[in-house]
Amino acid sequence: MLKPITPAHIHWDEFGLPLNAQDVYRSHLGSKDLGLDQAQKVFLQGCQLSGRGALWETQDHWVILELGFGLGLNFLATWQEWKNNRLRPKRLYYVALEANPARAEDILRSTQVWPELMPLAQVLVDDWWGLDAGLHTLRFERGQLHLLLSLGQAQETLHSLQLVADSVYLDGFSPTSNPEMWSFDVLSAIAKHSHKTTRLATWCVAKEVVNNLHALGFKCEKVTGLPPKKFSLVAKNNDNLPDRQSILPQKCLVLGHGIAGASVAQQLAACGWQVSVFDVAKGLSPASQVPIALVYPHVNQSGEGLGQLTRQGLRALFNHLPLLPDFSYQMSGVDEQFQGRKAKQFAENKLFQTPDWLKACSAKGWLHQPAG
Ligand SMILES: C[S@@+](CC[C@H](N)C(=O)[O-])C[C@H]1O[C@@H](n2cnc3c(N)ncnc32)[C@H](O)[C@@H]1O
Repeated sequence: MLKPITPAHIHWDEFGLPLNAQDVYRSHLGSKDLGLDQAQKVFLQGCQLSGRGALWETQDHWVILELGFGLGLNFLATWQEWKNNRLRPKRLYYVALEANPARAEDILRSTQVWPELMPLAQVLVDDWWGLDAGLHTLRFERGQLHLLLSLGQAQETLHSLQLVADSVYLDGFSPTSNPEMWSFDVLSAIAKHSHKTTRLATWCVAKEVVNNLHALGFKCEKVTGLPPKKFSLVAKNNDNLPDRQSILPQKCLVLGHGIAGASVAQQLAACGWQVSVFDVAKGLSPASQVPIALVYPHVNQSGEGLGQLTRQGLRALFNHLPLLPDFSYQMSGVDEQFQGRKAKQFAENKLFQTPDWLKACSAKGWLHQPAG
């Protein structure tokens, strides 16, 4: 079954500031005065990603890891900074961990005080649907900006991710109210996802956090904070970790250039890998032995495994088709008839029966009711 995820219930206080009503300590998720300033000064500047001479300039790709996506303010501010920098990295991967994703309307509402972010927020919420527990990749800016949303408890999901981050934003609630987000275990998982020159930034200067980061090999520096906070924190230069260069994408061999092999090769190459493809057949004609490309989603009720892979694949396809040059496709369909147990399974299939997926697939003309 699809694993349910509880969306954040955001309440708005008398000053129009977002409050997370779901958690007992009613933390502020952001503030009108602090919000964008904090994103720019604590996180972007802390990780040296602002303006001229930013660390990500002229890089092929850059990976940011954020703990606590919240209303996406740090993401939107980073997106804007990336867009405004002519020397920006060619591809930006923003990996965000979040237990209770905000609703699209709250994300939009929270950016109303920063009109410059609203166009980006609108693009974000247009793709903000079908977000159950697990990993989701949202692609923007013609595939140059990837938002990888990992939905679940950060302390559980962090270990299973495979990534090496260049910058890390630590933005869970405070260690006093939310110690799980700042535990030694979480910080050491972050170290495992880092390289020698990865920079971590946070507004949190709690002694235990600084000591733990120090114990893991990071050099911690308290820098001027945003009032009323005197300091914020930057952690960097961890000699215990490998060089960035040694862990950059490398080479890959793909055996078989059917639809699956060709797609894998194309996606890896787009991520900077050197890909060699081998097949007994010359040219691309025999691709999977079909005269046309077919999309055939697996029918699977599970939230994880194959079910999730199917949804991720469809979302990737939604994003990818419009980017293909000189490619035209038509909506047609195959009415597949099942009998007996298979028919029952199919009728019970929940893959597209969640309102979000139904809406998205219908809007794209991909779902023909009542065939399903
Ligand atoms: C201060 S807000 C983040 C604000 C956000 N970075 C932004 O730019 O809008 C903290 C976020 O951490 C999330 N969070 C708290 N504990 C978590 C946990 N254990 N795992 C994942 N997310 C968690 C909360 O749901 C909340 O959205």
